[in-house]
Amino acid sequence: MLGSLRVRLPALFLLGILLSGLLAAAIALRLFQGYTHEQSLEELQREAAGLSQLYADAALRAADEGAAAPDFAAEKLELATGDRLFYVGVSVFPGQESGLQRIPEAALPDDAAVFDEPTTFEFVPPEESRTYLAASEPLRLEPETEPFGAVIVAKPQTALRDQWTPLIPRLAIAFGVGAVFAGLLSWWLSRRITEPVLVLSRSADQIAAGDYAVTVPPVRGSDEISHLSERFGEMAERLAATEERERQFLMTVSHELRTPLTAIKGHVDALQDGLVEDPELMEESLSVVAAEANRLERLVGDVLDLAKLRAHRFTVQSQEVDMERLVEHAFGAFGDEARRRAIDYRLTTAGSGPVLLTDGDRVLQVITNLLQNAFRWTPDNGAVELSLWQGNGAVRVDVVDSGPGIPDDEREEIFRPFHSTDTKGTGLGLPIARELAVALGGRIELESALGEGSCFRLVLPGSPA
Ligand SMILES: Nc1ncnc2c1ncn2[C@@H]1O[C@H](COP(=O)(O)OP(=O)(O)OP(=O)(O)O)[C@@H](O)[C@H]1O
Ligand SMILES: [Mg+2]
Repeated sequence: MLGSLRVRLPALFLLGILLSGLLAAAIALRLFQGYTHEQSLEELQREAAGLSQLYADAALRAADEGAAAPDFAAEKLELATGDRLFYVGVSVFPGQESGLQRIPEAALPDDAAVFDEPTTFEFVPPEESRTYLAASEPLRLEPETEPFGAVIVAKPQTALRDQWTPLIPRLAIAFGVGAVFAGLLSWWLSRRITEPVLVLSRSADQIAAGDYAVTVPPVRGSDEISHLSERFGEMAERLAATEERERQFLMTVSHELRTPLTAIKGHVDALQDGLVEDPELMEESLSVVAAEANRLERLVGDVLDLAKLRAHRFTVQSQEVDMERLVEHAFGAFGDEARRRAIDYRLTTAGSGPVLLTDGDRVLQVITNLLQNAFRWTPDNGAVELSLWQGNGAVRVDVVDSGPGIPDDEREEIFRPFHSTDTKGTGLGLPIARELAVALGGRIELESALGEGSCFRLVLPGSPA
């Protein structure tokens, strides 16, 4: 169950979303911390600048008029803002209380150049344990004069934390709501993905168990999964069709084998039982047995050839083949029959014959096969022409006859095994010829006109120069 896509996919989605949510929250918090830190420093700096100006004005007035230290008590300010006010250096009002807590310079960090310019730093005031964030402003009576002290406004760092801690529960709520929503979304999304995959997986199980009659329900959309399921359905259909064809093939083969066997058995039985006594009839019976045995032998050879070709277990040789000589050889084999039946039998070769790197015996087998058919279907006094052509990187051998021609709707049929209108034929000639042509890298083309004749063409790829 845990290994199933249905669980793993939403879990992975959710984990990814949760991790990125946590990361985003952490980054947001960190940014907010930085922001409040900066804001606090700026605020402290402004306060320090204002205070130092106030004290400078009051000190000038005290010098001129002998006025008292200002009574805007530092404690009140501290109470109002939560900041602490300190003072380093010489007292602005000798002998009077200025309200600022004076601290020794040694209490400040080494690099806090408080007398030179406005600066910010962190420090722990004497008698305190908390760290303070501080901004200082030099104290001077006139702008370009030497400072005699510095005002320091400081805020405990814990106060800063108070600014962003309330953010955490809010972020947690937002994160929780987001996670629930993301969880639902990832569950829905992964269901959309896994549902068709599970259906495909079940169908694959069915096919693996040998049951090809599966129906794969269509998947909506045009994504990879719908493509996969479409192709899977087609594949299942094709497998079913192949299985059916194989079954048909086997049935036809056994039927075809049984016919001559039955004839042989009948004659042999009759001979054995002494039913045939006339020597002439005996001779006739034996020749029928011989003819049927030949037919059987040829049939078995053809079926084996076709089976090997279909399983791509056919070894084709590769030798230099002079096509002109080969075609002449094939042509010669039918010379006698042509003369006997007064068939106008011609050979055309286009001069210098092409030499191919191919399997000569197989090429001869194909051409002989086509010639056999041409002579079978051409009436006496008809015409058969064999021609060799070369061009466009291919070599063509045309077998043209003046037979009955082949109807349009049979042009594919005649290439199917055991399709034959010839009482003596097996219907394996053309299928074998076609598979052979393909095994040799070529093809067989057919042009035919009813009542005029047919042209079967073997096209082979020309050898690379
Ligand atoms: N040249 C042709 N003219 C007319 N019909 C043809 C021609 N060649 C083949 N056919 C038709 O195609 C069918 C199949 O041919 P194929 O060569 O496969 O088998 P076959 O000749 O009947 O038997 P086999 O070649 O196995 O002895 C033939 O029975 C015939 O009907
Ligand atoms: Mg044939």
